[in-house]
Amino acid sequence: MTTPTRYQGLLNRYAERLPVTEGMQIISLNEGDTPLIQLQNIPGILKKNVDVFVKFEGLNPTGSFKDRGMTMAVTQAVHEGSQAIICASTGNTSASAAAYAARAQIKAFVLIPEGKIAMGKLAQAMMYGARIIQIQGNFDDGMRLVKEVAETAPVAIVNSINPYRLEGQKTAAFEIIDALGACPDYHCLPVGNAGNISAYWRGYKEYANSTETLAAVVDKTPVMCGYQAAGAAPFITGGPVDNPETVATAIRIGNPQSWEYAWQANRESGGWFDAFTDAEILETQKLLADQEGIFCEPASAVSVSGAMKDITSGKIPEGSLVVCTLTGNGLKDPDTAIAQCDVNPTAIPAQRQAVEQAILESL
Ligand code: F0G
Repeated sequence: MTTPTRYQGLLNRYAERLPVTEGMQIISLNEGDTPLIQLQNIPGILKKNVDVFVKFEGLNPTGSFKDRGMTMAVTQAVHEGSQAIICASTGNTSASAAAYAARAQIKAFVLIPEGKIAMGKLAQAMMYGARIIQIQGNFDDGMRLVKEVAETAPVAIVNSINPYRLEGQKTAAFEIIDALGACPDYHCLPVGNAGNISAYWRGYKEYANSTETLAAVVDKTPVMCGYQAAGAAPFITGGPVDNPETVATAIRIGNPQSWEYAWQANRESGGWFDAFTDAEILETQKLLADQEGIFCEPASAVSVSGAMKDITSGKIPEGSLVVCTLTGNGLKDPDTAIAQCDVNPTAIPAQRQAVEQAILESL
């Protein structure tokens, strides 16, 4: 017999660095362990000598990084005896909460902005059996309502204001360092509610500092570069944005809950924030797909928009090791993808000659 090596999720892998306690029933879908893919063609287009890796979180069980926080938050909720969880969401958190609630056999209530979530994410919440509450408002309204309702209703909040979410999400930083055998120089990622940048920063700091029981793994932390959509960029405007708007609906957020933590990451790491227009975001999404074969959702692409701009300008110098987080899978939002593709799927007769003709025309 060989020793089994079946991967069993990140609570198992990183138990010693997480609030996992004896006798906890782990609620897991084997999330984490996502690929770190080196970009092969885009650095050449930029004519810059940099190593750029993307952490493709779209390959988590529900197709986004949210599963990292959700396995921890739902495990803790079940441990505390909760029968129901609740969240506000632009889509991915609701899909993830719904899946982990199904796995744990508890109820999930999800508040989503009416008409403003990608079709794949809605399909997921429906299929996993969540109680879907569409509100005539945006994510920020949903967040306010969830906090109000949870004061009295018997539901555990699983948005990233739940500290267990950030604990789970910090494992992405561990995986990156474990995979590279080194700490990146720069970490680029999209910022919406700002939980993820806060969680990464926590993870990177933990790997760079020894504790009583755990030795430091590396001796440095990366510069944290947070990128937003121009129409939903409170970290650029310096305060809440009333009516956030962007094609990248995942980050259509005007009042980020982890505001302080994100600024702390920015300050302590010597990082920066920047914002990109919808056109720039979609252009990068397409570039990643047709130059690298990596299909992420629009919100995820802004991390690479940012990296490309800052590598080109030299703000991220040549010779740097750069990691970008691609937070979600492109398949979640087929409508936005198809709408931006310049192809003409007109049907032709089902005949050899017609197919040959079609090929010749596009050679
Ligand atoms: N990318 C994607 C694909 C997301 O779904 C989100 C957030 C972010 C980036 C931003 O991460 O909020 O930690 O700064 N989505 C949340 C949701 C808000 O409800 O699914 P953040």
